[in-house]
Amino acid sequence: MFAWMLLPLFVALILPETSDCASHPWHLLILSQQWPQTVCLMASEACKVPRAVDYWTVHGLWPKRAQMCNNSWHFDIKNVEDILSDMEQYWPDVIHPNSTQLWKHEWQKHGTCAATLETLDSQEKYFSKALDLYRNLDLNSVLQKSNIFPSSKYYMVEQIENALVSVLGATPKIQCMFPTKGVSVQTLGQIEFCFTKEFQLLNCTEGVPNVHISREGGQHNTYSEYAVCDRSMQVSYPPIEHLY
Ligand SMILES: *[C@@H]1O[C@H](CO)[C@@H](O)[C@H](O)[C@H]1NC(C)=O
Ligand SMILES: *[C@@H]1O[C@H](CO)[C@@H](O)[C@H](O)[C@H]1NC(C)=O
Ligand SMILES: *[C@@H]1O[C@H](CO)[C@@H](O)[C@H](O)[C@H]1NC(C)=O
Repeated sequence: MFAWMLLPLFVALILPETSDCASHPWHLLILSQQWPQTVCLMASEACKVPRAVDYWTVHGLWPKRAQMCNNSWHFDIKNVEDILSDMEQYWPDVIHPNSTQLWKHEWQKHGTCAATLETLDSQEKYFSKALDLYRNLDLNSVLQKSNIFPSSKYYMVEQIENALVSVLGATPKIQCMFPTKGVSVQTLGQIEFCFTKEFQLLNCTEGVPNVHISREGGQHNTYSEYAVCDRSMQVSYPPIEHLY
C-alpha cells in the first residue's frame, strides 16, 4: 500500500472541518441541552455537578455543518456581562467550574458561524438567543409533567421522545452515553432541538443516520461521544449526585 493512495481520502476527511461558512452555508440551528450528571459520568477529568444544578443545562447553539468560521473573533466575557448570571445558572461548565472555557469554546466553534445571521451577529445576541430558546422549550418542566424524572428506574426511548413530541410538536434528537461492555443500559445525556434561521422549531429528523456520533470538545477533550439512543435498549436517567 502506497501512502499517496490514501491522500485523497485524507483530504476528503479533513476538508469539511477546515472549510469556512462561505463554502458550507448552513440551514438550521441546533439547540443542544445536556444532563449534567451524564456530562460528569463521561468526563475524563474529575467532575462535580455544582450545588443547585439539578436541571438540564445549555450545551450550545450550533449551526448545522458549519464550524470555526472566524478564529480571530475572540470571546470576551465583557460582551455578555448583562446576561452573565443567567449564563452561570443555565449554561454552566460542569467540568471546569467557574471558568469561561465552555463559552469560549462554543463561541469559537459555533457562534462565529451563527453570526452570519443578523439576529446572532454579536456575542450578546448569540448567548442570549440560546438562553431564550432554552427557556422557551422548558425541557425540565416538559419532562417532569410527563412523569419522566431522574431516578433509578429505566425508561424506553419512545417514552421520552413521545413526551417531548406531544408537548413541543417537534421531534428532537435524543442522545445517550454508550453503554460500557457488559452493561445493557444506555444513559440519557443530550437532547437536541432543531430550529430554522427564524427560530421556528423543526423536526430534527432530516438526514439523521441511525447512529450518529456527535463529537464535542476537541483539544481539551471536555465532552466525549454520544450516540443517538438505541430504541431497543433501556435508558437510564441518573439522579444528580452533588459532590460539593
Ligand atoms: C472576523 O472577526 C473579526 C473580529 O471581530 C472581524 O474584524 C473580521 O471582519 C471577521 N472576519 C470575517 C471574515 O468575518
Ligand atoms: C465556584 O464559585 C462558587 C461561588 O463563587 C464557589 O462557592 C465555588 O467553590 C467555586 N468552585 C470552584 C471549583 O472553584
Ligand atoms: C414534525 O413531524 C410531525 C410528524 O410528521 C408533524 O406532525 C409535525 O408537524 C412536524 N413538526 C414540525 C415543527 O415541523
